[in-house]
Amino acid sequence: MERFKKIIAEQLAGLLHEVTEEEIGGLLEIPRDAAMGDLSFPCFTLAKQRKASPAGIARELEEGLHARGIAGSGLIKVSSQAGYVNFSLDHAAVAEAILPGILESGERYGAGEDGEGKTVVIDFSSPNIAKPFHVGHLRSTVIGSSLYRIFSHLGYRCVGINHLGDWGTQFGKLITAYLRWGNAARLEEAAIDELLGLYVRFHEEADKDPALEDEAREWFVKMERGDAEAKKLWKRFVDVSLAEFQKIYDRLGVRFDFVTGESFYNEYMDEVVRELREKRLLEEDEGAWLVRLEEYGMPPALILKKDGSSLYPTRDIAAALYRKRTFGFHKALYVTDYSQSLHFSQWFKVIERMGYGWASELVHVPFGRVSLEGEALSTRRGKVVRLEEVLDQAVSKIRGIIEEKNPELENKDEVAKQVGVGAVIFNDLRGNRIKDIDFSWKEALSFEGETGPYVQYTYARACSVLRMGTEVADVQEVNLKPGTDWDPRQLDGEAEFRMIKQLALFPEVVRQAAVKLEPSLITRYLVDTAQAFNRFYHDCPILKEEATLRLARLALVQGVRFTLKTGLGLIGLQAPERM
Ligand code: ARG
Repeated sequence: MERFKKIIAEQLAGLLHEVTEEEIGGLLEIPRDAAMGDLSFPCFTLAKQRKASPAGIARELEEGLHARGIAGSGLIKVSSQAGYVNFSLDHAAVAEAILPGILESGERYGAGEDGEGKTVVIDFSSPNIAKPFHVGHLRSTVIGSSLYRIFSHLGYRCVGINHLGDWGTQFGKLITAYLRWGNAARLEEAAIDELLGLYVRFHEEADKDPALEDEAREWFVKMERGDAEAKKLWKRFVDVSLAEFQKIYDRLGVRFDFVTGESFYNEYMDEVVRELREKRLLEEDEGAWLVRLEEYGMPPALILKKDGSSLYPTRDIAAALYRKRTFGFHKALYVTDYSQSLHFSQWFKVIERMGYGWASELVHVPFGRVSLEGEALSTRRGKVVRLEEVLDQAVSKIRGIIEEKNPELENKDEVAKQVGVGAVIFNDLRGNRIKDIDFSWKEALSFEGETGPYVQYTYARACSVLRMGTEVADVQEVNLKPGTDWDPRQLDGEAEFRMIKQLALFPEVVRQAAVKLEPSLITRYLVDTAQAFNRFYHDCPILKEEATLRLARLALVQGVRFTLKTGLGLIGLQAPERM
């Protein structure tokens, strides 16, 4: 579509003096209502500037375009209505402009070089060690991982970091509890259960015996001082829990470049404190140390506790300095729920006050909170749904559906995994990220309508049409190059045009998803594309048509296949070819 936007913007620029060609390009819209044409130019801003009526300006522009000949070029029809200039594009010309390019790009469709030479660091997932990985952690994991894929597709170098919560007073509690009530064998077999049990028990007992809290604090101070026994126990807890998390990451197909938890930055903590002190930002407050942020309307950022131990913000500041030094990022994203927004605003401000201009490149990517039956998730109260369980149930339900609908399918287990896990990921990425989610089993396991399985199923259907139409056993062998066999200009019907226009939107959707840091734009686009394909397939016979038209329509199916596959890949879903 960019090509057509450019032609139109060029022509309009010849008629307008107050806006540049580029600005016009930015103003061109794709109308929702097809009766308004394929592209339209709103005249409202101009009308305000000129103190004239939008409808009058639109009519004037329409006439001007007719006079310049663009309207009669056979490529574009121009009309005006209600303050808009509407452009209807020639179907065959659009097919010719769009489809061969998609086939050429294949699974690289929508890829760009926007990010060449730029690095994006993405801090995501980052669960706290020793607690079960629950449906709340899924969000940061899949949003972050999808942003990673989207930015990579646009040519950025991405650095994915799992900033594990592997340091802090809770480890003092765990050590205290483990030394009293721990069970080494259980720690090996069911690490998270054992650690969670200890954590819950600690809190129950500490209610009765507050001395336990002091003991826990002492252990944490020992950890910070590098005490051998404390470190050894801590390391065990980290290793066993990480091994369990890794199983989940493997199932989700999520990878990190660095798994460097908060503890990784311990050795850089003194440096941070020294620098803050030198820059006269650190102030004492009843033995603790903090950076005041009142003049920015925020509570102070706590840097050191009375006992000298560091805090969550201290570790984030150290980590940011380290990451800037090490990766020279252009942007650093932090994907957490919005309850941490203040934390990020605070320490971003501290970085700015330290004199680092790149503070403006630090971006918090907040998402909505997950509740369960209207109540906040709580590990301590056992009010959580473990992700493992959700994945197991989704996969087993899909396995059942396959058994019922397609018992002949070859690799049923593998497909069930791809579709079941995909359904869970897709469900999580469906709405705008900022929206809260109330987890419901029913919804998580419903595969009808606008879901991952629906898109995957449509993909498999496109694959099957391609296999039948070109008589190959494997869709990878399909080779449809425009030329003597088929001509994109044959795809000039209404249904084909709608399908092609939908495919043409993809590159811009990918770009917008990166700009808005919003993977849900991709999920929504995939549903729309799957629906458009199913409509197209219903309206346009393919296999029965004579050779050239059949091949041209198959080429369009191939375009759909590439687009769906690439889009699914960007949100972390597999695309099985048979289902
Ligand atoms: N571990 C934290 C939590 O579970 C999230 C960490 C996010 N990343 C960061 N650099 N602060 O809430």
